Amino acid sequence: MPPCGLIFKNLTIAIPTFDPALWLYGNSVFQPIKLFFMQLSSFLQRFNEPETLKMAKLGRELRAKGIDVIDLSLGEPDFDTPAHIKEAAIKAIQDNWSHYTPVPGFLDLREAVCSKFKRDNNLDYKPENIVVSTGAKQSLANAILALVDEGDEVIIPTPFWVTYSELVKIARGKVVEIKTTTEQGFKITAAQLEAAITEKTKMFLFSSPCNPSGAVYSRDELQSLAEVFRKHPNVFILSDEIYEYINYVGKPAGRTGRHHSLAEFEEIKDRVAVVNGLSKGFAMTGWRLGYLAAQTEIARACEKVQGQFTSGANSITQKAAVTALTTDLRPTMEMVKEFTRRRARVHELLKEIPGLHCSEPDGAFYVFPDMSSYFGKTDGESVINNAGDMSMYLLHKAHVSSVMGDAFGEPDCVRFSFANSMKNIEEGWRRIKEALRKLK
Ligand SMILES: Cc1ncc(COP(=O)(O)O)c(C=O)c1O
Repeated sequence: MPPCGLIFKNLTIAIPTFDPALWLYGNSVFQPIKLFFMQLSSFLQRFNEPETLKMAKLGRELRAKGIDVIDLSLGEPDFDTPAHIKEAAIKAIQDNWSHYTPVPGFLDLREAVCSKFKRDNNLDYKPENIVVSTGAKQSLANAILALVDEGDEVIIPTPFWVTYSELVKIARGKVVEIKTTTEQGFKITAAQLEAAITEKTKMFLFSSPCNPSGAVYSRDELQSLAEVFRKHPNVFILSDEIYEYINYVGKPAGRTGRHHSLAEFEEIKDRVAVVNGLSKGFAMTGWRLGYLAAQTEIARACEKVQGQFTSGANSITQKAAVTALTTDLRPTMEMVKEFTRRRARVHELLKEIPGLHCSEPDGAFYVFPDMSSYFGKTDGESVINNAGDMSMYLLHKAHVSSVMGDAFGEPDCVRFSFANSMKNIEEGWRRIKEALRKLK
């Protein structure tokens, strides 16, 4: 039997459990119990587990008990990876691509990443600017660990993806939030940015399209931010563009003109690192592949960090990624077409519910309504004081999982994904409406 462990803050006491074998063989059960003390690192105290993963776990636990939970907490496309990408992976296995890979990625993949940047964004990069990783999350971690020192300020507009603030805390940096509102479409203005920059500012970190708000910055909006950065040459920009293709405004997906990046502005390009990956646009979350593009010195620094944590990314995934990035984007566009249909339907369903404030997202696959008009209300059993209570109420009473906005730095909102079938979306929102109706 394994020892059972009790964790008191950062203290683990492991108590050997009673072993029936000892009893059977005549040993006294009154033998002294050995205790050992394990001090967990202070590093662990500096950051939290991702709230998104916690909600997914709670949903799975209820489902395991036979409860029909509709998962609207999902942060991944509910589509299969396109067949031609899977075939490339099968071929890579058969061709014995089974050895360790170079830390920054295979050269042919880094060339494919460069041609993708040229094709979709009209950006020029060379393979030495690219570091391939085990997901965009690792690329973000590499860059933050490579650049942020203790006490450095990292500006993050709210709402932001849960992991940003935690990675900054891991690096002992200081998170400086810029608050945005539903009225401003959850986008910051140049004036807000200017006001947030101090002599300690090291980095600006954001995503467009944004998870959770769905906000997408237009070229003009990015240009006004770029003008501020031009005046502050010590500020580095980490631009998370993982939802690039899942964009409902502008021209068709995957063509220059729809998605815009701060890296387009020549005068600041050397200070921008673009992070992207295959998870969202190619329905490849489990394959784990991300990449970062930056000036060579930054790329080498990220390579150094990654070299000690994980080394090069999975060889089979890398070979499949060459196919994903160099073949046409039809499957991605088909997926985006379906997301577009669901986005419109969710918006209709949301409008039918009194007291929810939400604009239609321009990108990604989430709605992020302000639910604060329900705070202070009760169904007679549960009192809803905040977004966390709301998320739990919906999970336990409506059997719909969501993610509370606090996790994204926006405590009045709750995130609901539409990366689920139309049938589940309809049923999920029917249940939410019913549960909210009971709150008085
Ligand atoms: C904004 C954002 N960035 C990065 C990631 C992580 O992507 P990956 O699966 O490539 O690590 C996510 C995943 O949810 C995300 O929403």
